[in-house]
Amino acid sequence: MLSEVLLVSAPGKVILHGEHAVVHGKVALAVALNLRTFLRLQPHSNGKVGLNLPNIGIQRVWDVAKLQMLDTSFLKQGDVTALTPEQMEKLKEVAGFPEDCADHEHLAVLSFLYLYLSICQSQRALPSLDIAVWSELPTGAGLGSSAAYSVCLAAALLTACKEIPNPLKDGEAASRWTEESLELINKWAFQGERVIHGNPSGVDNAVSTWGGALRYQQGKISSLNRPPALKILLTNTKVPRSTKALVAGVRSRLLKFPEIVAPLLTSIDAISLECERLLGEMAAAPAPEHYLVLEELIDMNQHHLNALGVGHASLDRLCQVTMAHGLHSKLTGAGGGGCGITLLRPDLERPEVEAMKQALTSCGFDCWETSIGAPGVSVTRPPPWTPLSGKPWMASEMKPPRHEAPSRSSWALELSSVPASGHPAPDADREAPSPSVTPFPLAMPPGPQSESGGPEAMSVFYNVLWSRRAVGPCGVL
Ligand code: MEV
Repeated sequence: MLSEVLLVSAPGKVILHGEHAVVHGKVALAVALNLRTFLRLQPHSNGKVGLNLPNIGIQRVWDVAKLQMLDTSFLKQGDVTALTPEQMEKLKEVAGFPEDCADHEHLAVLSFLYLYLSICQSQRALPSLDIAVWSELPTGAGLGSSAAYSVCLAAALLTACKEIPNPLKDGEAASRWTEESLELINKWAFQGERVIHGNPSGVDNAVSTWGGALRYQQGKISSLNRPPALKILLTNTKVPRSTKALVAGVRSRLLKFPEIVAPLLTSIDAISLECERLLGEMAAAPAPEHYLVLEELIDMNQHHLNALGVGHASLDRLCQVTMAHGLHSKLTGAGGGGCGITLLRPDLERPEVEAMKQALTSCGFDCWETSIGAPGVSVTRPPPWTPLSGKPWMASEMKPPRHEAPSRSSWALELSSVPASGHPAPDADREAPSPSVTPFPLAMPPGPQSESGGPEAMSVFYNVLWSRRAVGPCGVL
């Protein structure tokens, strides 16, 4: 078991095309967002294992000795297959949760317990440790917050248990794991996602693990071949929804009307393939007509998603408002509310974009500015002001730059050039994410850390590293 503090982060994602269809074996195109989830793992020897999730108000502590006595033989170490309903019931028993618990707070804890008990089975005794996870991503909005959570947990636990080597070398500020380690992280993260979502396709955890821009189909992952720089506005309708319920809804519609729904899924697949082809063509020689076709694809997909039953009045509103400004939008992720994306053509004048953002904001939506094609899961050296002695971060030791509220309520998302490797190209001209532009308030873990501003400082620290290219667009420089 490692004895040092681990700081891990993983990105959220945006699906350009293919949500829902990807659950049924079709292609999805997805890109990593530069909004991240951060995890801090601190080993100790107090006989406890603690989980602190400030964004959703969870703080739990278990006695390691008690967990050790439970029969967890149903979790086979290294067995990375879907949990059966019986295994899921057993896990709830271990957690002391009611059988019918299905809210995301309970599921987040179950996912942690599952990964902790399964991955740490390799140890002689279950390790005593504290884990805090906090995020810049809104939960349940279609931006892959649960996948980023599962990826951070899998990466940190596998590293702490020495199932994969810690890639951080002496003198390095940040690093990424090898391809082989990423495969294992992704496999376990998928399991964590299964505990939360039931039957996910695996696209969200894949993007969060590898970062960049990906094509995903039935577990087969490949990088988009140098997609062009696309500007996209990301809007959160703030309507809460459940991915699990929406995915189940599409499944039952498919079972009820196979002749009608299967062709919709096939058509969405064709949209993803056409978009992929077009992005390739645009990389070679971008032309204004390409944007018109991309807009047509967005409209067609949005209609299909509505026909699948995953639309929402708030998303219709988003599409109408952007259409009134001559722009085209679709939902991203599971739908039913959550987030939508709007393509910003390069010919757009700034005032037009500002006017549209204003109109969206007055609907009660949040829109904001970031870049996509961000690095996948990374490990970062603890900030120099963080004591490695095992003490929690204290206010006196933390002098982070002040976090300021975003000055604008809207932001544009840029899909920057990404090479075939799946990781964004090192790009000297790339604008680093500004530490002061954070679209969501960062919740702090309660207790000493909340006084310290530790998690907030960590997010800022990561962004500063990125801006200094210590965590390059490739993750490591
Ligand atoms: C959720 O981000 C995307 C869905 O296609 C579900 C999945 O792929 O697991 C709706």
